[in-house]
Amino acid sequence: MSAQPENQKPAVGLTTTEAPFIEEAVKRGELYISQPYDLYSEDNHEAWRRLFSRMVPRWEKYANQHFQKGIASLCLDPEAVPRLEDVNQFLKPLTGFRAKPVAGFVPAFLFFECLRNRDFPTTITMRRLDQLEYLPEPDIFHDIAGHVPMHTDKAFADTLVKFGDCAMTAARRAQDEKDEVEQVRKLTSNIMAMARFFWFTIEFGLMKEKGLPLKAYGSGLLSSWGELEYSVDSPDAQRFPLQLEWIINQSFEIHHYQPLYFVAESFDQVYEQVDLLEKWMLEGKLDNVAPGEPQVSEADLSSFLHADLG
Ligand SMILES: [Fe+2]
Repeated sequence: MSAQPENQKPAVGLTTTEAPFIEEAVKRGELYISQPYDLYSEDNHEAWRRLFSRMVPRWEKYANQHFQKGIASLCLDPEAVPRLEDVNQFLKPLTGFRAKPVAGFVPAFLFFECLRNRDFPTTITMRRLDQLEYLPEPDIFHDIAGHVPMHTDKAFADTLVKFGDCAMTAARRAQDEKDEVEQVRKLTSNIMAMARFFWFTIEFGLMKEKGLPLKAYGSGLLSSWGELEYSVDSPDAQRFPLQLEWIINQSFEIHHYQPLYFVAESFDQVYEQVDLLEKWMLEGKLDNVAPGEPQVSEADLSSFLHADLG
C-alpha cells in the first residue's frame, strides 16, 4: 500500500462525474452511502469557497427571508465543503429533517419516500472548479446551500413531507390498477404532474409575501448566481401567480434559464396546493396531463410499481 504524503489531498476528489468512490458505490448497487470527507480535494474546497462567497451578496438581495434565516441557523463554513453530520446537528432539532448522502440518481418514489421520512437525499460530489455556473446535475452546493436552508422552516418542511404522502397515493393507485397498459399510462401522467409541481415550486419557485418584495425560494435559483438575479429582476422572465392546473400541464427543460416562473404567496399556500394535487390524483384528474418534459424513466415507474406500501 503506498502512503500518501501528509497534507496532500487526492487530485480527483469527489468531483461531479469524476469520483471513483461514487462509481464504485453505484457498481455495487449502493444508493445510500457515507460521506468520505477525507476524499475531498483542495479543488473541491476551493469550488465551495468561490461559489459560497459570490452567492452571499445575491442571497442578501434576492433570497426569501426564510432562506436567509435558515442558512444562518445552519452555521455553514464558507471556507470548506460541509460535513453532513455537522449540518444535521443544526437542522434536525428544527424540523426533524436530515441530509442523507446518496450515490447519485434516486428513483422518483424512493426520493419522495425519503422526504416523507424527513430525510433529504443529498449529493456529496462537488462541481468542477472550472464549471461554477448552473449545472443540470445536482451537487453538494446545490443540495446543501440551495435546498437544506429551506428545510429549517416548518411550513416548508411539512410541504416536502406532503409531497411524500402524494407519492404514496400515486403508488397505491398504480398498484391497485389491474390493467397493465392503463397502469403505466396513468402512473406516468401522475409522476409528471408531481415532478412539474416540484420543479416550479421547490426548485424554481418565487414568492411574494404580503408587504414584502418579490424573492426566490426555489433551490435551483438559490444555488445559481446568474439565474437568481434573472428570475427576480429580468424583464424577460415571465412570472405568474401559482396555479396548479397550469403547472401540472407545463413542460420544462433543464439546460437553460427557465422562461417561466410561478409566484407563491406563502409556504402555507404551497402546502395547500400539494394537498389539492393529492386530491386531484385520487379523483383521476392527473391521469391525462399534457405530454412533454420531464421524461419518466423505467426506474421511476418501477420504483412506484414495486414500492412496499406496508
Ligand atoms: Fe434540487
